[in-house]
Amino acid sequence: MTGSPKPLIAGNWKMHGSEVFAADLAGSLADRMAGHGGGGVEMLLCPPALLLGSVRAAVGASGVAIGGQDCHVAEQGAHTGDIAAAMLADAGCGYVIVGHSERRADHGEDDALVQSKAEAAQAAKLVPVVCIGETLDQRDAGTAVEVVISQLRGSVPEGSSASTLVVAYEPVWAIGTGRTPTPADIAEIHDAIRDVLTAITTQGDGVRILYGGSVKPINAAEILTIENVNGALVGGASLKADDFWAIAQSA
Ligand code: 13P
Repeated sequence: MTGSPKPLIAGNWKMHGSEVFAADLAGSLADRMAGHGGGGVEMLLCPPALLLGSVRAAVGASGVAIGGQDCHVAEQGAHTGDIAAAMLADAGCGYVIVGHSERRADHGEDDALVQSKAEAAQAAKLVPVVCIGETLDQRDAGTAVEVVISQLRGSVPEGSSASTLVVAYEPVWAIGTGRTPTPADIAEIHDAIRDVLTAITTQGDGVRILYGGSVKPINAAEILTIENVNGALVGGASLKADDFWAIAQSA
């Protein structure tokens, strides 16, 4: 390693929140980040797209980054209900989550589409947070590493580098369930992801690999000290300022 990359603690609000909620939560986190001098951590908030404006206003110049939860592959066009990566950039985003397992399941998104979305994000100067992860059946069948690596190879754009890509390993069975893999299981997957990133990206040892799935204040320190875990993608616990801040403090 050329030195560990700065940890990224990202909150995926999913379909939660309101204008008032967004201003309160983002404002509280921004105040803490500003008071803390940023520390050694980068914080990212990914609210529903409609709340990006409120979150952007609330985080101000605190250094807290904002991101989208999905983008379309096209630059613009007749795609009712969709959002282009350039629109997210215009709204102040620096990142966009692509290929979350909920989008893969709810909207039938496959690796090829996720890769195209990540390419569209990079073209708009956003950093895609590319999500991959196995189901419980796949883990029980002993194919978790194989599945995750296949998703990784299929979803990461060619020519990606440490500054243009983040990968998030989120086992589907750990999302919203309170269950997490053992540290050894997380390490096995993250090491395998690192090996592939080193081969297929530029400065692959600097690409941040986040763990996601039931990250809470109580388990964050243990998870975040595993080698090749460079941050967390947090769902439920990112909706409470105290919990999300505690997780960031663990990094
Ligand atoms: P939870 O932290 O609620 O398990 O959600 C994880 C997740 O899906 C983040 O993208």
